[in-house]
Amino acid sequence: MLIPDIIIAIDGYSSTGKSSFAKIIANEFSFLYLDSGALYRGVTLFAIENGFISDDNTINVPGLSGALENLDLHFAAGGTFIGDRCIENEIRSLAVAGKVSPIATVAEVRNFVDRKLREFGSRKRVVMDGRDIGTTVFPDAELKIFMTADPLIRAQRRADEMKAKGMEADMEDVLRNLQERDYIDSHREVSPLTQAEDAIVLDNSHMTMQDQLEWLKGIIAERFGC
Ligand code: DC
Repeated sequence: MLIPDIIIAIDGYSSTGKSSFAKIIANEFSFLYLDSGALYRGVTLFAIENGFISDDNTINVPGLSGALENLDLHFAAGGTFIGDRCIENEIRSLAVAGKVSPIATVAEVRNFVDRKLREFGSRKRVVMDGRDIGTTVFPDAELKIFMTADPLIRAQRRADEMKAKGMEADMEDVLRNLQERDYIDSHREVSPLTQAEDAIVLDNSHMTMQDQLEWLKGIIAERFGC
């Protein structure tokens, strides 16, 4: 299937399978995939390790903002790195998941991540997933998808994913973390998670990845005539 040079923005709730779907799209249409959540998670790991966020999630905003200037956070070889250290596994832990939403409320952190995403996405044929890609980072994206699914199904998927990586995953903890993140992400002052007016909703509670890809191909054929 032919697809023009466009930006595809995928936003939605935590653990709706945004990144899995984005990776499949990237592979299917030879697009570059950018995981914006990984950058927020990378900043969070950096904040934890350098004492910019406390156990009760109090953030030293001036300290963190100043330190971001020298933070070499980037994607390489399909993973997330700080300098030459691969942080891909650490940023998926519950320790990071429990602090990433508060960190993502900080305006300076959002500016830092937005700048990187716009830099990486300055060329087209990019599929990016996050919470505010279609509303704030790339409001002119040609195709915007807003993903949602039943919270229990999402928690089960996240727990399975963690177990597959050998991490501990208690369903109640995972569900609580997910609901907390949904709440904070949707209620923060700067760039809250909202559906862009021109986004198409995808509820994948009962869809396989293949179903979702077929759904997307239908939309592309309709929108872009190929
Ligand atoms: O997609 P994810 O679960 O890896 O994202 C982790 C957190 O990062 C999520 O709880 C909110 C934040 N985030 C954000 O605020 N804006 C984005 N574009 C992507 C993620």
